[in-house]
Amino acid sequence: MQGYPNVTVFDHPLIGHKIAILRNKNTGTKEFRELIEEITLLMTFEAFKDAPTKETEVETPLETCRQRVVQERKIAVVPILRAGLGMVGGVQKIFPLAKVGHIGLCRDEETMQPGAYYCKLPQGIEDMQVTLLDPMLATGGSANAAIEFLRNKGVGEIRLMSVIAAPQGVKKVAEANPDVKIFIAALDRTLNEHGYILPGLGDAGDRLFGTK
Ligand code: PRP
Ligand code: URA
Repeated sequence: MQGYPNVTVFDHPLIGHKIAILRNKNTGTKEFRELIEEITLLMTFEAFKDAPTKETEVETPLETCRQRVVQERKIAVVPILRAGLGMVGGVQKIFPLAKVGHIGLCRDEETMQPGAYYCKLPQGIEDMQVTLLDPMLATGGSANAAIEFLRNKGVGEIRLMSVIAAPQGVKKVAEANPDVKIFIAALDRTLNEHGYILPGLGDAGDRLFGTK
């Protein structure tokens, strides 16, 4: 995104294809959940390009060679409840040993301000590469609150992965946190007066969990 070197917007036909189905109001809960996970998996390849690695020795049937492997236990993902939960499986398909923390935030429908209701993070998180997961980055209030939460726990390396984002939210988070890498699958046009992303996909939590 121009002017924001830490923001990566994915431009890939496979991701675009899946987002088109995701946005469709007629896409049901089962397919919606599968798509969120698949898009996250596709994003993970690029977003974890700088995953912590170490060199190991591997015996092939023919000889021994040195090969770098990912230090999965140094990777933590933290879904922002609820909707972030839908993204966890996509990362776990690639890094099954990654640690998973949880932060519960809910936006007040009137004020659009996030309120915290739960937090459980892995032990030793301050030494891990931590990626927040939330499919929707709207006003940026929830992401900023979650980032502040992690900073207060001593986390040094924080990243954010979202599926759909509004320019207002991306700018707010990127300007407040120039050290945080932000990965988004689609950058939408704007927000409506209720803080919903346009064109967006509606309420991600409700569509994931069938609550409306
Ligand atoms: C949604 C979404 C984000 C937040 C984004 O969650 O999953 O967490 O809104 O909005 P913001 O950028 O303006 O803060 P919501 O509060 O609806 O809770 P839910 O996941 O439980 O549905
Ligand atoms: N949360 C959602 O689930 N959707 C939006 O468009 C904005 C916030």
